[in-house]
Amino acid sequence: MGFGGLSLRAVLGRLGVGAAYVAAVLVVFSGLAVAAPAKVCPDDVVQDASSPVPLSDVCIPDGYTDIPMDYFDDFSWREFVAMVWPAAKGKRGVADTTKTVGGPGPRVFETFKSLYEVFHDDGSAPTAAFNAYDPPGMNVCNAATGFGDMVLGSKSGIDDIGQAGVGELLGPLVAQNGRYVRLQTLYNKIAYDFIVSHKLYQRASLPPVPSPRPELPVVQFPMGSVVLKASWLDLEGFTEEQKARFYSRMAMLKDPNTGQCSKTLMGLVGMHIVVKTPSRPQWIWSSFEQIDAIPPKEFGGTGKFTFHDGNKTNPMPAENPLMLVPLAKQPVTPFNVTRNIMAPVHPKTELMNLVYQRLLHNTPFEFYRVATTQWPRLEGNQAAPVPATQGGEITTTFPGAGATSAFANLTMETFDQGRPQLGCMSCHNQARMTVDFLWSVMDHAYPAKVGVAKSAIAR
Ligand code: HEC
Repeated sequence: MGFGGLSLRAVLGRLGVGAAYVAAVLVVFSGLAVAAPAKVCPDDVVQDASSPVPLSDVCIPDGYTDIPMDYFDDFSWREFVAMVWPAAKGKRGVADTTKTVGGPGPRVFETFKSLYEVFHDDGSAPTAAFNAYDPPGMNVCNAATGFGDMVLGSKSGIDDIGQAGVGELLGPLVAQNGRYVRLQTLYNKIAYDFIVSHKLYQRASLPPVPSPRPELPVVQFPMGSVVLKASWLDLEGFTEEQKARFYSRMAMLKDPNTGQCSKTLMGLVGMHIVVKTPSRPQWIWSSFEQIDAIPPKEFGGTGKFTFHDGNKTNPMPAENPLMLVPLAKQPVTPFNVTRNIMAPVHPKTELMNLVYQRLLHNTPFEFYRVATTQWPRLEGNQAAPVPATQGGEITTTFPGAGATSAFANLTMETFDQGRPQLGCMSCHNQARMTVDFLWSVMDHAYPAKVGVAKSAIAR
């Protein structure tokens, strides 16, 4: 871009434009895939939880050849802060800059478009306006929805409960209170607009993969696309002391057994965030958990755990004992979840977590952790962008085939913790060619194709 040698930031600075605005403009520019002005990245990351503007890309100093853990984990946290920031009233996906991250109100991510708003049961086009809400008949609770409202459930009663397998649904996770973990998928405006304009909500519009296979995915989402998967739990039976350690909110929750919907207090137990950036067109894969999921007791913890009874002599079963079909009625007898000792959260990630937990003190978000960040990698200079022709194979992603740190989320890939070949990227890589890694598009484009794994059907 011709700014006579000046960076875009410097030009805008001369025009007296504020830093937040500059960052927002940079996001927009990267969304248009315009070459970014040469950037200088600080040697050490600058942790910050005071801004709702996420990093538009990971910023690794030129010539850095080590494993850039801190840069990616910091990217994850900055993105998380942006996602859980209070949303501006009436404006879906927009942060309220007059509030702080702990302020009241629905969060930015909760105002993104839900899976059911993108993929209608009848294959009809989603509402073009990102800010609009569908009429009540379009959600499983037949609920009138407006700004910040949330509906959790699925028509089948199992789609939002089964854990993700390789394009199919696995058994569910139940918490110590006998309630199933509920899953929700959300798209930001850039991703949503792309799906709508390319009609990716219909299977017939998913372009066939030419033979011979091309080098680049047939569909490529624009830079700045953000897609989330959140896991929620009905906090029934939790003490006030326990509840205070969750980000929680009311939602319309569909009971999978009775089909009835009721307003229920839901606690956020996990979150996946994927962000498409100019340097990592294979997306950056971030995953968060609430810290009281399993022992040990974390700072100030009550000693009660969401997915563990506290008795060390009760191990986690090797396979999920619960079926999806038929789905046992709640309250369900729980089992213990533990973290695979071969794949603990990386010590560097835990150090970064401590910094952000402190920055988020006095907000419920201080009780969350990055479990893992995955990214596509090249040898050598880590500041070099990874070309989109590279896939998400395990050999070219962190933590890779010989993983010695976590690559799964306790609440969403509970039984895949010991199989690096089932890390985020290698599993999503199977959806790369057709839909740029996004399994949800592959599964839910009309007519939906969401199979249930044999292991999750009672024989
Ligand atoms: C074994 C395969 C598998 C693994 C491992 C896996 N996922 Fe997924 N993921 C899926 C499937 C399948 C869906 C779509 C589920 C549905 O039908 O709604 C999905 C959905 C998602 C979504 C919603 C957007 C999309 O792709 O459709 C995000 C975000 C996501 N996963 C992130 C992650 C992250 C981060 C990890 C690693 C911590 C991970 N996934 C691990 C299979 C997997």
